[in-house]
Amino acid sequence: MDRKQFLTSMLSLGGAALASSANAAILDKTAEALIAKAKTDAKHKKRKIDPATTVLLSDIHICGELENGKPKYYPYNPTCLKLRIAEILSMRPLPANVLVFGDVAWDYGLEEDYRYAAELLSELEEAGIKVTLGMGNHDRREPFFKVFTSYSASTKVAGRVVSVVEMPHFYFVMLDSLAELPNLRLRQATTVSGEISGGQIEWLREFVKDNKRRLVLGAHHPLNEMANLEQFIAQTPAVAGYIYGHTHIWDKSVRVVRPRKGLHMVQTVGLPATFYGDIGFVVMRSTPETIKFEYSSKGFWWPQPKDNPPAEWLSRAKDLADEHCQFLL
Ligand SMILES: [Fe+2]
Repeated sequence: MDRKQFLTSMLSLGGAALASSANAAILDKTAEALIAKAKTDAKHKKRKIDPATTVLLSDIHICGELENGKPKYYPYNPTCLKLRIAEILSMRPLPANVLVFGDVAWDYGLEEDYRYAAELLSELEEAGIKVTLGMGNHDRREPFFKVFTSYSASTKVAGRVVSVVEMPHFYFVMLDSLAELPNLRLRQATTVSGEISGGQIEWLREFVKDNKRRLVLGAHHPLNEMANLEQFIAQTPAVAGYIYGHTHIWDKSVRVVRPRKGLHMVQTVGLPATFYGDIGFVVMRSTPETIKFEYSSKGFWWPQPKDNPPAEWLSRAKDLADEHCQFLL
């Protein structure tokens, strides 16, 4: 395979075949060139932004600790994110919002992880796309607030990272499911499973009382890990669905949480990652009646890409080539 063929195949796989550091360097340059091209196009064409279109990303796991100018762990993660950013910037029209469902940081939520993630994501902000971040089990709030300073003022629940994004037909609420143990040392892992603080449930109850429109809730962890949130949803028909990351697996499922009521189902969407597992992002588009989710699959690898991916990885990617689902409003 010559260099041109190699690059073409890498781009079609979204980096799935990316393995050696030499290949990674080529792909990184390609991703940067694609972003530069998308930015130039944007200037010439004055691209429109569609408020009803949102891109959902999760588990970007950016390592900001550098060694010889490269991230110390999973150095191709930033490259994978750059490829996704280039694809988002090439969308016509541009999405108004990008939501990131946690695990922004590589492993222990270091301040340098957030600084590097902020630098990468600034390409989206510069194009006029609003980026909203959530907390995962690999994130830490104190260093997050230090870098993403606006969240200290904008959060709806003090001490947590809770955001409301107003969409044309509904509200999206990013909850904070990080169970951060007290007095964690640097590079000490915290609880992997999720929790929603009582304060967030109280705030949700008030928010629902004050607003007529339906809501979509989201957080890093799957709903079945958080009994209090599931109970809140069971009692609240205004909730149209739930979106999460964490598992790195695209999953359109149903939770039956209101067994004896008309609106008995809650649909959930599990997101792909840019790091291992299902690789890609989801495009969410709303009308007054529905919210449609379209999975844009860029491949599959576990735990890291290989030059010659196993047949089952390729098969998984093929299976997910045309995945979609919807929430009813
Ligand atoms: Fe993750």
